[in-house]
Amino acid sequence: MKVLSLFDGIACGREALRQLNIYVERYVAYEIEQSAINIALNNFPDIEERGDVFDADFKEFKGFDLLIGGSPCTNWSIAKAGHGRETTNSGIGWELFSQYIRAWKESGVPYYLYENNASMSKEIRNAISEAFGHEPLEINSALVSAQTRKRLYWTNIPGACVPEDQGIKLSSIIEHGVVDREKSLCLARRYAGFQGSQSYLCRRYFGKSMGQAVFEGNPANLKALYLQNDRFTDEEGEATGCIIRPMTVTECERLQTLPDGYTDGAGCTRVQRIEAIGNGWTVNVIVHLMKSLESFNYDLGPAPIEAGFIYTPSRLDVVGGLTDDDVNELSDTCEVCGKPIKHIKNAVVDVNEKLHPICIDCELDLRAGLRLRDMMASANVGTVDALLRWIESNRHLVDKPEFMR
Ligand SMILES: C[S@@+](CC[C@H](N)C(=O)[O-])C[C@H]1O[C@@H](n2cnc3c(N)ncnc32)[C@H](O)[C@@H]1O
Repeated sequence: MKVLSLFDGIACGREALRQLNIYVERYVAYEIEQSAINIALNNFPDIEERGDVFDADFKEFKGFDLLIGGSPCTNWSIAKAGHGRETTNSGIGWELFSQYIRAWKESGVPYYLYENNASMSKEIRNAISEAFGHEPLEINSALVSAQTRKRLYWTNIPGACVPEDQGIKLSSIIEHGVVDREKSLCLARRYAGFQGSQSYLCRRYFGKSMGQAVFEGNPANLKALYLQNDRFTDEEGEATGCIIRPMTVTECERLQTLPDGYTDGAGCTRVQRIEAIGNGWTVNVIVHLMKSLESFNYDLGPAPIEAGFIYTPSRLDVVGGLTDDDVNELSDTCEVCGKPIKHIKNAVVDVNEKLHPICIDCELDLRAGLRLRDMMASANVGTVDALLRWIESNRHLVDKPEFMR
């Protein structure tokens, strides 16, 4: 699949496609914030970063399959109320959105997914619906994550609908400590500034704010805690050992259902990482909306005849969602190309159900079916079904270690 992504940020859309095992032949991204670009490239080195949407000639992308993006909501969001919030289809917010529509029209891409904040004014919402010719889906990320985040999605991906509630609780995603809310408040870019003294964090947490916090120690009854000289005491003024802290970067990643460490290793500060996560998408929502695109996996195109080495069918299984125990058992070197892997996200299962770590490049290669084609060429067959039958009667040829090139 060829994907054009506007306002790509940290490429949460690309991560969703990866989780869906959709082979991405090209992924062209428009993004201007360098730290977000660094994080995106650190995870997907093959992304073609192109910079500012206003400079683009989108006719270049004729023949692409999918257009994704969510233009900045900064000027439209309710958080801007009283500070120059735009409520009509004019101004910077609308100009940015118009680039998405320009991209859609100029490129003629058949499938699109456009996202924005549900707190935009009715007038803007109606104007966007008019541009697409239909109403949006309103989805609260709380259905598929531990975070409340109401967003609007305009898409023509077949079957896209509101997901079912997966019942994910905030307490299940924190690294340590306790929380007294079932779901986190919406993680916004400005959450990166949620740092400071105990009194400051308490004011922000208990006051009318977006401050999500975690308590450490044993705050059996949060309401019975007192804050004196910047530490928690009980009614008698005795220290409780309890503290309030901001969420860790890993917890923020989990709120957006990104893999742990997704924003790590790109040379970004804690603040830059949290800003980028707060700007991003909830990956589970995007996975749900894009589900029906999975069929693109098997669109192999014409098979080049070039003899390669042979795999067993089960060795073609790439498994994601590895547990910490799985990852600890694996070496951090790709067993296909020998390159080091930063975060092991996927492995290949062999005939003995042993896991082999695999890097993103080799994984993409594998998903592309390129090696499947090699196999078909080796067996001199034209379809995957025929290949499976061939393997059944040629086991002596296929169970060989050549898989690990
Ligand atoms: C709401 S965020 C989108 C985040 C993204 N969906 C993700 O997965 O991380 C909007 C993004 O648009 C980017 N942006 C703003 N103006 C832009 C422009 N003129 N051209 C390209 N990107 C722009 C911002 O830097 C920001 O990362």
